[in-house]
Amino acid sequence: MPIILDGKATAAAIRSELKETVAALTARAGRRPGLAVILIGEDPPSQVYVRFKERACAEIGVISEAFRLPASTPQSELMALIDRLNDREDMDGILLQLPLPDGLESHPFLGRIRPDKDVDGFHPESMGRLSLGLPGLRPCTPEGVMELMRRYGISPSGKRAVVVGRSNIVGKPLAYMLAAPGKDANATVTVCHSGTRNLADVCREADILCVAMGKPRFITADMVRPGAVVLDIGINRVNGGLCGDCDYEGIYPIASAITPVPGGVGPMTIAILLRNTIKAWRAHTGMDQES
Ligand code: GUN
Repeated sequence: MPIILDGKATAAAIRSELKETVAALTARAGRRPGLAVILIGEDPPSQVYVRFKERACAEIGVISEAFRLPASTPQSELMALIDRLNDREDMDGILLQLPLPDGLESHPFLGRIRPDKDVDGFHPESMGRLSLGLPGLRPCTPEGVMELMRRYGISPSGKRAVVVGRSNIVGKPLAYMLAAPGKDANATVTVCHSGTRNLADVCREADILCVAMGKPRFITADMVRPGAVVLDIGINRVNGGLCGDCDYEGIYPIASAITPVPGGVGPMTIAILLRNTIKAWRAHTGMDQES
């Protein structure tokens, strides 16, 4: 039977570590960490995610401020809000919830966020730093995948990793993280996408199969090598319930480790967002050297 990679419990452990860090450093830092969350429009899943983020901040002592703006918000107004938040000393992180409403392109806004406040790691400079192996703030979901493996003692080093999906938010940064040097990464990485021929054959080569394609239960047991580690990064709403991009029940008997959906990678995203916010706060308040 496989190890079930429990993202819910792992994320809770990380949040409790972060809560201790905030409690220990706030007096010396002179203020608590601050996170600004911007939500444009009415996308229901985004509204839920933003509420979760606000709740998680409150739980560990991070001050969060949410800015909920209508889909009709002019671009100039959103830019001006980001500029104001860039200048606010009490805000360590700025997060623009994606997707933006139709007609609003995300790149100009993501590129406007100060890189030292880019807790989502989506700024071109943050992505460039990741690709170059330089320190910086990393995108939360792929970093959550790496942290989940780390905490379960799964080393990708020397293994074949296959990433299905090439999004800027997950697939692309995850491929960079897996291929980076170092004992916690160092995998040989293949990135698959909608243009990949013989996807099932490529997936079967994976020791570590990471799936972020947004198609419910698309990856079936016949596409998985027995003994593989399967990390399901998809969250799909089907008939009122949630399921991943992998057929969990079918794959479970042959995998060596597998993430459930929900309760796998999902909760890790917010834990890493909090970790990034605290990292930014420590840098802004000169606390980076403190324990
Ligand atoms: N939409 C889906 N995932 C994310 C995320 O990690 N950050 C932001 N800002 N928006 C998202």
